[in-house]
Amino acid sequence: MSAPAPILRTLDELRSATRVWQRAGETIGVVPTMGALHDGHLSLVAAAKAACDRVVVTIFVNPKQFNNPDDLQNYPRTEEEDAHKLARFEVDALYVPNADQVYPDRFATTVSVSGLTDVMEGAYRPGHFDGMATVVTKLFLQTSASDAFFGEKDFQQLQVVRRLAADLDIPITVHGCPTIREIDGLAMSSRNLLLSDRARVTAPLLHEAMEKLAEGVAAGHPFGELQRATIDRLEKSGFTKVEYLEIRANDDLSLLDTPTRPARLFAAARLAGVRLIDNIAV
Ligand code: PAF
Repeated sequence: MSAPAPILRTLDELRSATRVWQRAGETIGVVPTMGALHDGHLSLVAAAKAACDRVVVTIFVNPKQFNNPDDLQNYPRTEEEDAHKLARFEVDALYVPNADQVYPDRFATTVSVSGLTDVMEGAYRPGHFDGMATVVTKLFLQTSASDAFFGEKDFQQLQVVRRLAADLDIPITVHGCPTIREIDGLAMSSRNLLLSDRARVTAPLLHEAMEKLAEGVAAGHPFGELQRATIDRLEKSGFTKVEYLEIRANDDLSLLDTPTRPARLFAAARLAGVRLIDNIAV
């Protein structure tokens, strides 16, 4: 059994470690997370281990990216289990900063990415992307990482992070890693822990319906009809609200009726009080 990674809670501790690695000319991979780690996160850790000399996993439930106080309150926090799950990867540090290490007194800066954040998650979760972009920028600068690893499950987030790193000249390579799914197709997410047993049985229908819609698009059926039928099916099966179900271009997330350039089908839907999001290539 491998030794658990050292847990660092202050920026000074983190910098003492990264300074030594940087002096030795080593690359540093960061995997930013909010904890409640699942196999999706662990696939990012594995990718970071394969690509970088040193790997830092961060766990910080970032209050600034929650637009709903209940969501923040209910977000699963499982630090001990998380550390246990990471042990076999032999990461170099687990950075679990105290809140004042990220947002000290009089903190007054917001990183805000325009355009990409106007749609989908940005439209339904006001302030979410500003909070996410601010904390990710801080984590990039705090860890001095050369490489960062994000899941395609949150594809819009991935594109926002790529934009901010390029716009702010942060010398980091942002890697997008494929979505990891449960055996029944449900995209892995820390929020799945909040699903009741009954809702967990219904949840994979979102991905199944999206795959079916994508097949319809590939066969040349009009998107509008497929979209209406899919929303109807999901809402009749127990989803209380489909917030969006749209095809958007990978690069600038502009809305498309037919995938005439690399594009994805994106969805967000509520099921028994839990908000699920997913996306697949079309
Ligand atoms: O995807 C997440 O878990 C969060 O948005 C992130 C990137 C860790 C920032 O808090």
